[in-house]
Amino acid sequence: MSGTFGTGGDEPYRGLLGAEQSGPLVLRRIDGDGAEISIDAARWLGLATAADLSVLDHAAAPLLDIGCGPGRMVRAAADRAVAALGIDVSDDAVAMTSADGTPALRRSVFERLPLEGAWGTILLMDGNVGIGGDPLALLQRCHDLLADGGSVIVEADADAWLHETAVFIAVGDDGSESGPFPWARVGHAALRDLLGEAGLRLESEWQVSGRYFLRARRSISRGSARATATTTTATPQTMTSDSR
Ligand SMILES: C[S@@+](CC[C@H](N)C(=O)[O-])C[C@H]1O[C@@H](n2cnc3c(N)ncnc32)[C@H](O)[C@@H]1O
Repeated sequence: MSGTFGTGGDEPYRGLLGAEQSGPLVLRRIDGDGAEISIDAARWLGLATAADLSVLDHAAAPLLDIGCGPGRMVRAAADRAVAALGIDVSDDAVAMTSADGTPALRRSVFERLPLEGAWGTILLMDGNVGIGGDPLALLQRCHDLLADGGSVIVEADADAWLHETAVFIAVGDDGSESGPFPWARVGHAALRDLLGEAGLRLESEWQVSGRYFLRARRSISRGSARATATTTTATPQTMTSDSR
């Protein structure tokens, strides 16, 4: 299974990016009960929301947004003078991000990347912990990409203990279907365990507008002076509603 999010077939994700479709994208599970998950993908085309900006309140430079789509988070980081780069496997997404000079690379997270081992913050937004269908492998990859003391911020599913990997297709509002791709969904409680397994220490978690975020830190283990200067040592906070 080698497809990536929304690609192949009728390319509904591409249609969404090209504004040929406006509605939600539906993820339809094809290796099980046919369950459908509706995603408010049009949000990705807009400006960063209050929930998105809450993530940047916790971010230290340099920031890497994995699966950046059309780039709203990278753009918002740049607006705050936080050095940031988006990566995405979609040509259209990268072209849209970089159209106004916002830094983006067409690259898979599993390929060689700039600044390996030196990122201050890595973002996995909009369910992107599902990329590749193996969240633990992805979080371990993030661990290795981070600087000592750097943090990954992950958006989790609201269904606390959900931990599902499956084969999905994306379906556009006009019924167009992508090819199959592996994707995972992880709830905020299940994610805590996975972060620990990946060697990342939970620092804080919060929710805004019904979206859940967890921030976990790579410990300073290599005895080098590469620790991220602006990342603070926080006491783990419990989940609070609409707070940071
Ligand atoms: C659920 S969408 C999230 C969209 C995005 N965060 C936004 O703001 O538009 C998943 C994104 O991850 C990208 N993606 C999928 N597999 C990837 C990979 N291996 N490496 C980097 N990006 C990937 C997709 O092309 C898509 O843009």
